[in-house]
Amino acid sequence: MIDGSTGVCALLGDPVEHTLSPFIHNSLAECEKINSVYTAFRVRRGDTGTVLKGAGAMGIRGFNVTVPHKEDVIPYLCDIDEEAAKIGAVNTLCLKEGGYKGYNTDAAGFMREIRECGFDIRGEKVIMLGAGGAANAVLHALYSLGVSGVYILNRSVERAFEKFGGDKRNRILSLSDYEEIEGDGYFCVQCTSVGLFPDTGAAPIEEEGFYKKINRAVDIIYNPSETAFMKRIKQVGGTAVNGLDMLLFQAVESFRLFHDRDVSESTIDLVREKLKERVYGRS
Ligand code: ATR
Repeated sequence: MIDGSTGVCALLGDPVEHTLSPFIHNSLAECEKINSVYTAFRVRRGDTGTVLKGAGAMGIRGFNVTVPHKEDVIPYLCDIDEEAAKIGAVNTLCLKEGGYKGYNTDAAGFMREIRECGFDIRGEKVIMLGAGGAANAVLHALYSLGVSGVYILNRSVERAFEKFGGDKRNRILSLSDYEEIEGDGYFCVQCTSVGLFPDTGAAPIEEEGFYKKINRAVDIIYNPSETAFMKRIKQVGGTAVNGLDMLLFQAVESFRLFHDRDVSESTIDLVREKLKERVYGRS
């Protein structure tokens, strides 16, 4: 029941119509018996400063931030978490004295998914496909997990070079130059938007020779549940998971920051099932 003491959290983005964040956060609050609601606001570029000023005055407890505001909201924060500052993007804001503090839970969400899959990538050279918005947090997470280097393959080599070329541990290649990666047995994370519903037949690289280099993979896409990239990995005997747990775990970490409490494993399992039903329908 919404009453006079119900807390409010929300997503800020543009567009927001298809977001799953309200579904996840309201399910978490219901399971954890927290008196809080979560909604979504479409906010145009340039309006985030005004929004945060008003929201802070109204005591809105927290926000998630998505495209196109993950970077442009930073100047309006009163503080930023060290990890989020290194990534250069925030996806979570929490109300503090004097304004909102920014965090990035995308990296934590990805790290938790990798750990829970049992993928131990410490000390390995790994492969990342893509250099867009999602790649920033993933790359940060890969190094936090202890990888020794990352082959970054992107359609636009210039974009990848501009963003990630400054770190000598990264080797930037075009998607077609995958043969320069020596040997096999690699972990690979797919961060491009290729294969996303409704374009489900497409994979960022078509050649089987690429997939033979990989034995473990994560596609951060979660719709469809098995992308063309994942299918190709499985066809050559590898293990591949989608990004649904990353989505769930980043929300769980944001929820922990909003409400200052951990979410129980049983709640996570319950919400995961509800989320699967919502995204994929009854199986
Ligand atoms: P996001 O915030 O979801 O990462 P983005 O910033 O637009 O979205 O990045 C999308 C990623 O998918 C980029 O790596 C993009 O490659 P470019 O940097 O060359 O644009 C990649 N991508 C999108 N469409 C692609 C396609 N048809 N083939 C290969 N890569 C593609």
